[in-house]
Amino acid sequence: MPDDASRLSAARVPASGSPSRPLPQLTGLPLAYGDLPAEDARELLALKEFIEACGGFVCTGYKERCLRRRIAVRMRARGAHRYGEYEELLRRDPAEYQRLLDTVTINVSKFYRNPEVWRAIEQLVVPTLFAPDRGDVRIWSAGCAGGEEPYTVSIVLQEYAERNDLLHRLDRFAIRATDIDRGSLAAASRAEFGEFAFTEAPAGMRQRWFEGARLARLRPELRGRVEFAALDLMRDPLPAGQHLVLCRNVIIYFEREVQETLFMRFHEALAPGGFLVLGKVETLFGAAAAAFRPVANRERIFRKA
Ligand SMILES: C[S@@+](CC[C@H](N)C(=O)[O-])C[C@H]1O[C@@H](n2cnc3c(N)ncnc32)[C@H](O)[C@@H]1O
Repeated sequence: MPDDASRLSAARVPASGSPSRPLPQLTGLPLAYGDLPAEDARELLALKEFIEACGGFVCTGYKERCLRRRIAVRMRARGAHRYGEYEELLRRDPAEYQRLLDTVTINVSKFYRNPEVWRAIEQLVVPTLFAPDRGDVRIWSAGCAGGEEPYTVSIVLQEYAERNDLLHRLDRFAIRATDIDRGSLAAASRAEFGEFAFTEAPAGMRQRWFEGARLARLRPELRGRVEFAALDLMRDPLPAGQHLVLCRNVIIYFEREVQETLFMRFHEALAPGGFLVLGKVETLFGAAAAAFRPVANRERIFRKA
C-alpha cells in the first residue's frame, strides 16, 4: 500500500511529468485529481462497477474529477483509506450507499436561484405559455432537488395569472419535477423549507406563499400543481411534449459527451417552440447549439428552433 509520502509525491507530478504546485492531499486518501497509481485506478474501477451493479447509479457518465472528490468525502467520513476498503464498507453497510448517492448528487437549491434568470423567464417565457391559443402546458424541472425550482415555477405562474386576470387558465398547467435522488423527492413532497431556501427569493415571497414559523410550508394550491417522480437522466426515457424544460445545475457534473446526448434528448422531449433553461454556468454546444436558438444568452434560455 503506498504511504502518505508516495501519495503526496504522486500529487506533485502530474501525468505530463512536469512539476507543479503540491495539491492538498495529505490525508492518505487516493488522489482526487490527476492520474491515479495503477492499483488505486483498479480499485476505483471495481468500486464504480460495484456502485453501478448494486444501485443502477451510472457513475461513468459523471465527471471523473467530481466523482472522485465526492467519493473522497464519504471515505474521509468513514475513515476508509483505499477505494477497496470503501467498497468493502459499502458491501457491509447498505445505508452508506444512500449517503454516497446523496454526496455525489449534490442537491443544494433555492427559490428564485439566480433571480435575474427568473425575471427573464417571467418576461420572455411565461407570457408565451399563457398565449390565448394555447391548450395544456407541460413544464418539467429535471433535477429538481428539494423542489425549490418547480415550486418557484408554480409561484411565478400564480403571480403572472393574478396580475393579468388569468387565474382561470392555471388549471391547464402541469409541472412535473424529477430527480434521481429519492430522499430529495420525499423532502420536496413535504414542501417544508428552512431559511436557506429563501436567501435569493424576492422580499415578501415567504410571507405571501408559505405558512408556518420555523419551517415554511408552501400553500396547498401552489404545491398541488407540482408532481414529483424519480427519473435518472442518464438512463430513463424522458417525458415528451414539454413546453418548458428547466435543467439547471445538473449537467455540470456530467461528462461532455453525456451532456451533448442529453441536450438532443431534451430537444426531442420539447414540443415545437418549447423552451429550455440551463444553469448559469452551463451552455449548449455541438449539434445542440444549432438545434436551439438563444432567447436570453446570459440567462441560458433557449428555444427549440
Ligand atoms: C445542484 S441540484 C440542482 C437543483 C436545481 N435544479 C437548482 O438549480 O437549484 C442537482 C440535482 O441533480 C440531481 N441529479 C444528479 N444526477 C442526476 C441524474 N443522473 N438524473 C437526475 N437527476 C440527477 C441531484 O440529485 C440533485 O438534486
